[in-house]
Amino acid sequence: MSEAQHSPVQIVPVDPTDREALLAWNAVLGEGFNAGREAAWWASDETTLAQFGDPKPERLSVLLVASLDGEMVGAAGAEVDPGDPAEVEISVLPTHRRQGIGAALAAALRETLADHAEVVQAESYSEAGVAFALAQGMRLGNQEHRLLLDLPVGRAALPGGDSSDADRTAPGIEVRTWRGACPQELIQDWARLSTQMETDVPMGDLTRPASRSDVTELRRGEQRMDAQGWTLVRGLAYDAGTAVGYTEIFVNRHDPEILTQDDTLVDRAHRGRGIGRALKLANLENLAGVPEAGSARWIQTYTALDNTPMLVLNRSLGFRQADVLSILEGELRPG
Ligand SMILES: CC(C)(COP(=O)(O)OP(=O)(O)OC[C@H]1O[C@@H](n2cnc3c(N)ncnc32)[C@H](O)[C@@H]1OP(=O)(O)O)[C@@H](O)C(=O)NCCC(=O)NCCS
Repeated sequence: MSEAQHSPVQIVPVDPTDREALLAWNAVLGEGFNAGREAAWWASDETTLAQFGDPKPERLSVLLVASLDGEMVGAAGAEVDPGDPAEVEISVLPTHRRQGIGAALAAALRETLADHAEVVQAESYSEAGVAFALAQGMRLGNQEHRLLLDLPVGRAALPGGDSSDADRTAPGIEVRTWRGACPQELIQDWARLSTQMETDVPMGDLTRPASRSDVTELRRGEQRMDAQGWTLVRGLAYDAGTAVGYTEIFVNRHDPEILTQDDTLVDRAHRGRGIGRALKLANLENLAGVPEAGSARWIQTYTALDNTPMLVLNRSLGFRQADVLSILEGELRPG
């Protein structure tokens, strides 16, 4: 018999329309998840309220809290889009670990998700999280460095800085940047390349979710991101009129301390020409036009452990390693 069954821990679902309960759940989930990490982002109250105030119609969300003697000590969440792996988060406050609370939350999640998913995926930045997930019968699917760039960025790396033009430009390449919704005349190129990213991005042994990058879905995503406080800072690279790469940075106006450098893709046929660097530099310049970005302290980005070209490029821009993201996967009903 496991410790969880002896424990007086109480696990109850959270109603996402109950504002106070939702924010308390989000706070405990974030506190446990980010304990001990440097410059770790978590969704603000405003973003969380917007996210659950306008849920995706087809998505199932499960929110649970764990309490001991009326005190919240842990939380879990799961999101499932039909046919895709369930994405789960489990966190326990550091003062209450190794008492079976995480396992009890995992058991409750499995029960709730039983008819909704076959496969579960979970992320962790800690040895404890990975050990816990392995003990749950999951396996390591992929790992990425989380890199941080301290702001403001050193002048040398930026356009107009000390590095020579040859370092900063890719001959024959034009980068078009914008902030917010994608200009209508570029949306087909954006849809094509972001769909390519969904199939190209290294995912190790993880199950790849279905593609959702048609134009209607992209426009819905832009609206949802805007409602949650995100400004999308984006750029497309063109070679003789053909889009060959893109990059994007996310800034949240409710919480602009940590920005996220998200996807960067260069079409395979055009790699090795400095396009990734040109894209990133042009988009950093584009970022300067977002007022909230002026108060940012870090840009974070994720690069697969074996993606040497991108690690080299990110280091040359001043990014340093902060921690490692491990993504684990397993069957919802193991064995
Ligand atoms: C992962 C986490 C939720 C575990 O919560 P917890 O309540 O301490 O976990 P449990 O007590 O239920 O542990 C269950 C089993 O997981 C394994 N485990 C948990 N923490 C471990 C650690 N630090 N080292 C090695 N094994 C560990 C053990 O097998 C443990 O069983 P045991 O105590 O009988 O040996 C907690 O450490 C946490 O919040 N970490 C940060 C968030 C995170 O990474 N979440 C991702 C989870 S997939």
